[in-house]
Amino acid sequence: MKTPVTVLGLGAMGTALARALTAAGHPTTVWNRTPGRAPDLTGVTRAKTVADAVSASSLIVACLLDDASVREALAPAATEFAGRTLVNLTNGTPAHARRTADWATQQGADYLDGGIMAVPAMIGGPAGLVLYSGSEAAFEKHGPTLSALARTQFVGTDPGLAALQDLALLSGMYGMFAGAIQALALTSSEKVSPIAFAEQLLVPWVTAMLGSIPAMARDLEYGADGAAGSNLAMQSAAFVNLLDASRAQGVDPVLLAPMGDLLARAVREGHGDEDIAGVVQLLRTAG
Ligand SMILES: NC(=O)c1ccc[n+]([C@@H]2O[C@H](COP(=O)([O-])OP(=O)(O)OC[C@H]3O[C@@H](n4cnc5c(N)ncnc54)[C@H](OP(=O)(O)O)[C@@H]3O)[C@@H](O)[C@H]2O)c1
Repeated sequence: MKTPVTVLGLGAMGTALARALTAAGHPTTVWNRTPGRAPDLTGVTRAKTVADAVSASSLIVACLLDDASVREALAPAATEFAGRTLVNLTNGTPAHARRTADWATQQGADYLDGGIMAVPAMIGGPAGLVLYSGSEAAFEKHGPTLSALARTQFVGTDPGLAALQDLALLSGMYGMFAGAIQALALTSSEKVSPIAFAEQLLVPWVTAMLGSIPAMARDLEYGADGAAGSNLAMQSAAFVNLLDASRAQGVDPVLLAPMGDLLARAVREGHGDEDIAGVVQLLRTAG
């Protein structure tokens, strides 16, 4: 028989997780604060209390709104966790993950924190990825079950590492969205077709620029090798035009202005001849 699993939380993501587990043949018990959520979810056992839900399975997957909701939901069932594994897929910070890991250890449970790199529609298919950190033994034991949700990647025994890398990936995503939002605001201030601009120019350009990220990472890891192809002094000078043109077109440059400040600071502090990797370290020190 496949490992019984409990899913706490039947929001959009929790429902997708429960559905993938039942589809993979795992006896699945679910609990949600508000009864009656996900009425279309079939083949599961609905527990009335969180304690009943936890005691039903050796593996408990929590997917609630935020860290506060996890603490609030789990507290009444604390004594039920001994000898079980808690996998917390709720979005949170590394500090949240470490604190929940300590709490789980105090209850005698193994703990894995997870960062879901997927939207609900990707759960149960090959496109999704979940990053895990915490108990390696728990990952080895339950990895095959967790692979019913998405591809799995264990990123370290420090429970905070999955959240750190999840948030870093979201940072990359929001940075990309911020640039695209600014670009579309700028072009739509004139009669430029958003669709033509996005499809023919923006996406190919951003895709080409994505190719420079590994070189940036290599510069960080090994130190810069040779003269910068696009030095920061040049970039800082050009960036001023981006901000000025934005204001002139009636577009608030609020999303990108901090980048201009950082480039100017890099030049002021003597990094003008470095490549873009030079600003990474700068972010980690007060200006
Ligand atoms: N959806 C996505 O695209 C996506 C992608 C990656 C990661 N995530 C993460 O997955 C987690 C769940 O997301 P979701 O999309 O399922 O959110 P959602 O649809 O808004 O559902 C939120 C869930 O949290 C529960 N909840 C909220 N406050 C609670 C509390 N104080 N005590 C107990 N339960 C509480 C809700 O229960 P009620 O029904 O009682 O309100 C509901 O089950 C979040 O941390 C989110 O960041 C989501």
